[in-house]
Amino acid sequence: MNVCLTKFSLLAGVLGLVLSSPVLESQAVVADDAVAQPENAGDAPSEAAIERTRQKVKMLDNIFKQTIVLITDKYVHGDDDFAAGSAAVLLFKNISESGKDQVRLIDATGDPYEAENVARDAFEKKGVTALKSGKANHELVVQNEKGAYLRVLTPVPVVMEKCIMCHAHYADVPKGDPIGAISYTVPIQ
Ligand code: HEC
Repeated sequence: MNVCLTKFSLLAGVLGLVLSSPVLESQAVVADDAVAQPENAGDAPSEAAIERTRQKVKMLDNIFKQTIVLITDKYVHGDDDFAAGSAAVLLFKNISESGKDQVRLIDATGDPYEAENVARDAFEKKGVTALKSGKANHELVVQNEKGAYLRVLTPVPVVMEKCIMCHAHYADVPKGDPIGAISYTVPIQ
């Protein structure tokens, strides 16, 4: 079977799965790191709603990570192949632009492939430091005039030797330590 086509159908499948969640309304979320809440912010979300959102992020995180590993394992053979990292960046950009869930893949080593794939605001910067010191994830509930959001940063370790083919400096990172992170901003509903 044509390899490109296979890769494409795989990605399209994942995209279809993710986009089938009923959130589509094109409006960008301002990644507001303010812990202080504006006066017109609504009621604080319930613990049950926060927990539901946490579970949703957990599911998305698992799907994304399994996909990145599977694509790298089966379809990336040389450093000129379309990398799973590039696929993830593009997938996350399309998801973020087409719905309310915001997702980014960022670097945690200080040496990203693409300069824009780095921690941008206080939440992400603090989160990268927390993940590197061994925390399983980093989260924050944010409320602004548009509603309440759960922000979560989860670690991306070097899962396979193949990652080093393109990111040579990952070889210097102790096994199991995060080399990157996935940053989520998801409405609490
Ligand atoms: C074939 C080369 C290649 C392989 C193999 C590869 N990557 Fe990447 N990776 C890239 C490129 C190119 C980008 C930049 C993508 C963009 O911004 O469009 C990237 C971006 C990333 C980023 C975002 C930060 C940055 O450096 O820009 C992370 C994190 C990442 N890759 C992790 C991994 C992991 C983990 C693996 C192994 C499962 C892996 N990569 C395998 C080429 C590769």
